[in-house]
Amino acid sequence: MFMPYYPEELIEEVRSRNDIVAVVGSRVKLTRKGANYFGCCPFHNEKTPSFSVSPGKQMYYCFGCGAGGNVLTFLMNYENIGFQEALTELAGRAGITLPQREMTDDERERDSLRARLLAMNSEAAKYYYYLLRQPAGREGLAYFERRGLSRETMRRFGLGYAANSYDGLYRYLKSKGFTDEELRSSGLVRFSEQKGARDYFRDRDMFPIMDRSSRVIGFGGRILGSGEPKYLNSPETPLFDKGRNLYGLHLARSSRREYFLLCEGYMDVISMHQAGFDCAVASLGTSLTAGHAQLFKRLGKPVILCYDSDTAGVKAAMRAIPILREAGIDSRVLNMRPYKDPDEFIVHEGAEAFEKRIAEAENFFLFESDVWKSGFNLQNPAELTAFHRKLAEELTVFTETMERENYLKAVCERHGISAEHMRGLVNGVGNRRYSAEIVAPDLDELTQESLSRAGKGQTGLTTAAEIILCWAATGNAPAERVAELIREEDMPEPLYREIYRQILQEKRTRGSVIPAALINRFVEDEKGSKLVAAVFSKTLKDEMLPAEKSRLLSENWQRLRREALKTALRSEGLPAAQLQQLVRELAAVPSLKIEEYDL
Ligand code: GTP
Ligand code: MN
Repeated sequence: MFMPYYPEELIEEVRSRNDIVAVVGSRVKLTRKGANYFGCCPFHNEKTPSFSVSPGKQMYYCFGCGAGGNVLTFLMNYENIGFQEALTELAGRAGITLPQREMTDDERERDSLRARLLAMNSEAAKYYYYLLRQPAGREGLAYFERRGLSRETMRRFGLGYAANSYDGLYRYLKSKGFTDEELRSSGLVRFSEQKGARDYFRDRDMFPIMDRSSRVIGFGGRILGSGEPKYLNSPETPLFDKGRNLYGLHLARSSRREYFLLCEGYMDVISMHQAGFDCAVASLGTSLTAGHAQLFKRLGKPVILCYDSDTAGVKAAMRAIPILREAGIDSRVLNMRPYKDPDEFIVHEGAEAFEKRIAEAENFFLFESDVWKSGFNLQNPAELTAFHRKLAEELTVFTETMERENYLKAVCERHGISAEHMRGLVNGVGNRRYSAEIVAPDLDELTQESLSRAGKGQTGLTTAAEIILCWAATGNAPAERVAELIREEDMPEPLYREIYRQILQEKRTRGSVIPAALINRFVEDEKGSKLVAAVFSKTLKDEMLPAEKSRLLSENWQRLRREALKTALRSEGLPAAQLQQLVRELAAVPSLKIEEYDL
């Protein structure tokens, strides 16, 4: 559960004094449509607006990707900042002065752990940096030199060396006053019963990993020469989130180049920067995530993929492309052949030749099409047809007509296919796909539709739960009555149970639930705030008859209860009495009813 520094009322005050339409509207172009505003979702790539902002509920919700929340979560996600920062900015905007932090014990601990982790990493970086320049670090230095790095480059990236000693860093950090407990959580030191404290990195060249504000959050360590594992990376800590940090971003973000170069390795990034490509970054020994894509998105530049030219690199590129595309980032793929990676290319061919490869980098879709093609034996008519179908299918990711047509022409030209023939294929696939998609939603119509689908038993249990939660929060029935009807176990998943508890608590203390205020309780839990937004996007249409509403709600409740009971029945070793009870309750499910006076 999220524990804020500030009292709930203050957070709610800040939230309620910042109109969500104004805050979102200054970042996303919104158009009024009925009671709500719509725009193109900033959290995924789209051409037709399915991102809605409700002034009444002070919430946003995207019918396309499910992003949702209140003004606080919007700012956190859009600007990629923490709760504190978002709250401070909104308080400033509304002219509210935040008092000195009132931290809870938990918060104090977490906050100080972060600060201690930062301090430890910074001390460790200094220690490694110093050692590289000592006699003990001679081999480490020689290795970097063999790789062609200048002193200036080593300085800029803070490179260092971890000595071949069991506990050199451990003793150093102890002398700086860090406790065993703190060292354990930093991942820099390992503890075991037999051996005691052992440095995690030994006899390795060290690459400190910086966050966007140039603070050291972890390390990569390379073995000198050959051996396994070649690279060792710090484990994830509260500070070191591999899915949201990129190596070299602290430098690349202020590059004047109009794109990012995304590489696979630390050495690639360093080599590129040394050669003047100061926009190079790499993920931290993991594949690209949507979190990384968001980082690029905020910085608003396209990405040129410079992955290794081997099979693994091509596979990594094929995984990265859709992630970037879904975030609305334009990507191209650079051809490194005959070299393995950017570092090798630069060493052998130099910067000018690389510049040329950048200019020649291939549009992502054409690159993908070549890879798909290689999976078919085009001499075989059946496989040739399958390849064409594959292209047609993939072309439907471009939902905008003009864009799709341009890609269609380009890809047909490349593979010698008639554009006419391809258009026919695309239309066949396209129509099938469209019918399954929700397009241009109107809040009320959509709800109507999802409700009637749910009523016919065609949507998931979670939708049923969302509908029930929405009623629990916004209906007339007081908290006691709701609690009497709906059990926590009726909810299909723990998060739904948590939200149900919070709704009841809000209703008990305030008498009613303010949707956006409820989200305050989930601001640091992305799934939670999305779900709350989804729940409140399910308003019942006003002109629906009470009898009909009552029937729809009852049906959804019955589904939930039935599933919950079935799950309970599946558990092993139930006493006979309990078994009978469950069976009785199952039989009674059809009579469960949410009455008209409960609406
Ligand atoms: P060198 O040029 O040989 O120093 O390496 P590289 O930068 O070309 O890296 P490579 O393409 O081999 O690997 C890319 C990235 O994957 C590295 O920068 C590391 O982050 C990560 N990586 C490579 N090898 C290992 C390994 O053995 N273990 C782990 N955890 N990560 C690795
Ligand atoms: Mn390499």
